Amino acid sequence: MWRCPSGLLLLLLLAGQGALGARRGRWRRELAPGLHLRGIRDAGGRYCQEQDMCCRGRADDCALPYLGATCYCDLFCNRTVSDCCPDFWDFCLGVPPPFPPIQGCEHGGRIYPVFGTYWDNCNRCTCQEKGQWECDQEPCLVDLDTINAINQGNYGWQAGNHSAFWGMTLDEGIRYRLGTIRPSSSVMNMNEIYTVLNPGEVLPAAFEASEKWPNLIHEPLDQGNCAGSWAFSTAAVASDRVSIHSLGHMTPVLSPQNLLSCDTHHQQGCRGGRLDGAWWFLRRRGVVSDHCYPFSGRERDEAGPAPPCMMHSRAMGRGKRQATARCPNSHVHANDIYQVTPAYRLGSNEQEIMKELMENGPVQALMEVHEDFFLYQGGIYSHTPVSLSRPEQYRRHGTHSVKITGWGEERLPDGRTLKYWTAANSWGPSWGERGHFRIVRGANECDIESFVLGVWGRVGMEDMGHH
Ligand SMILES: *[C@@H]1O[C@H](CO)[C@@H](O)[C@H](O)[C@H]1NC(C)=O
Ligand SMILES: *[C@@H]1O[C@H](CO)[C@@H](O)[C@H](O)[C@H]1NC(C)=O
Repeated sequence: MWRCPSGLLLLLLLAGQGALGARRGRWRRELAPGLHLRGIRDAGGRYCQEQDMCCRGRADDCALPYLGATCYCDLFCNRTVSDCCPDFWDFCLGVPPPFPPIQGCEHGGRIYPVFGTYWDNCNRCTCQEKGQWECDQEPCLVDLDTINAINQGNYGWQAGNHSAFWGMTLDEGIRYRLGTIRPSSSVMNMNEIYTVLNPGEVLPAAFEASEKWPNLIHEPLDQGNCAGSWAFSTAAVASDRVSIHSLGHMTPVLSPQNLLSCDTHHQQGCRGGRLDGAWWFLRRRGVVSDHCYPFSGRERDEAGPAPPCMMHSRAMGRGKRQATARCPNSHVHANDIYQVTPAYRLGSNEQEIMKELMENGPVQALMEVHEDFFLYQGGIYSHTPVSLSRPEQYRRHGTHSVKITGWGEERLPDGRTLKYWTAANSWGPSWGERGHFRIVRGANECDIESFVLGVWGRVGMEDMGHH
């Protein structure tokens, strides 16, 4: 059982010549604090045994890494200030260790007491009485196996760890990052407008609203853990359309918070809402700018009632309205109310959506979000089958809404052409392609062509003169 590790021979040879390295090792060892002052950590761990290493006398090379420090399997370690590996006594001497084992669990070089916890992504791990960790087994929103499967699967898009989603469960992602209630069938079938392409009319292969209307298309906002995409996508489309239809005389970023807090009839703020209700409110009541009524960014854990409505308006004739409250942001004085005309539903035909987009500006689209969409970092998205082989709780989806801003196509290596939409999400500028994403076009991917809305900004002659 007793032997010298091979490096030790060399060390002994060098020692004859007054080796500095050995001396430095000795000092380090003598100065290091005792390893077992309050009991033995990792008491069941196999160190000396794993390496079949036990050394006579003092052998500074007879050492192993141990929880971020070094432990030894030589006789010298069994002194007052012990630096023996936990299994030294048992394995090398055949006697019980002189120190009691610590009650607790080890993680990342630290000892946690019984019932101590740490987080492994979205799962909490708890130290059990027998010194074992026990972790929850929830599917996480950022799932590394799914990311790897997507990136190796050649699906046409790349997946990654969006840091704001790290630590959330998939269930929390579905519950707090979406927030559009699917319209009832009566709304789904309502007021569809058929745009007709003129005979011989050919739409361009690519189009981007921000190129046709520079400075009038607004950047994506971040809904945080507020399931209010109904308000975010509505405000986003209305902002662009008011800007376009006023020919740039007004370029407001409209306030999602105004909708979240004040459009409360059959709506649930950060717990979800309907698009038809949001458009009704924008038409009949109107909203102020995001600057005037900023997003309060309420977190999901915050208990208590939703924040009260802080903006009110009154009619001033010809259907127009005027604010009767100051801006909730006290640094802003401009509390102009912006309104729209009735929203209209487009046909689900790709060409109709394209024509409307090109002529009147970005459109709003309902979308069914699946578990893999949260991981999107770039490319042309389509829902992948990578979660199909996993238990059902890994396959989740929920209804969302976004702003479609353009389209294009990409030549694939195999010669096929892949058509896509470009769209703005509401998960902040660091998600996806700078807050935007591309998704397969013409195949109703994730239902994105099934319920598409347009609207006109309500712009009077007086709006064109001022501002
Ligand atoms: C190791 O240390 C213990 C406690 O200090 C002592 O009782 C024992 O005799 C030592 N064993 C050897 C082999 O030196
Ligand atoms: C994911 O991102 C978070 C936040 O930036 C980071 O703490 C975490 O370590 C990352 N996870 C992986 C596996 O890269």
